[in-house]
Amino acid sequence: MPPLAPPSRHDIQLRINGMPHALEVESWTPLLDLLRDHLDLTGTKKGCDHGQCGACTVLVGGVRVLSCLTLAVMHDGGEVTTVEGLAQGDDLHPLQQAFMEHDAFQCGYCTPGQLCSAVGLANEGHAKSLDDVRELMSGNLCRCGAYAQIAQAVAQVVIGPGPHASEVARTAWIAGTTVNARAVRAPEEPA
Ligand code: FES
Ligand code: FES
Repeated sequence: MPPLAPPSRHDIQLRINGMPHALEVESWTPLLDLLRDHLDLTGTKKGCDHGQCGACTVLVGGVRVLSCLTLAVMHDGGEVTTVEGLAQGDDLHPLQQAFMEHDAFQCGYCTPGQLCSAVGLANEGHAKSLDDVRELMSGNLCRCGAYAQIAQAVAQVVIGPGPHASEVARTAWIAGTTVNARAVRAPEEPA
């Protein structure tokens, strides 16, 4: 039996969080594995590894992508931003600050993907209401069920400050968020 051919490897250039990287990758290496396993950028999380949870969301050229579903070689010459690249030194990104203010996480596992997805959402410019935020963030799952707070945080930055609380109280994002919705019920609404 002839020996197996050596794995196919490619030289690529990526700018990641503002830093240039010259990398040699196998053709089948997902961007997620390159970030986590080769560059130790473990802020980006692996959840399902099948494009279903959004935990691995990063930005490529300002566009949100699922890094588990895209190959690193496909982005040769590209600009990648991970959660590690959102803050400017000690200054949190406005979305990070909003997540803190709204207590928009519990375990935090989904949070890097939520944040990168929300930055992409802001770049897209399509969200005009809290319902839009819910719909356009629906690819990012949160096993802790922090959806109501996440929507509030994203809406505060993407739409602007406003009375989003009563809107959340009327329309829970998904079944199971009712308790959180009640917690932010506007005072004038009946219990
Ligand atoms: S890990 Fe990529 S979508 Fe779940
Ligand atoms: S905060 Fe735990 S999965 Fe979202």
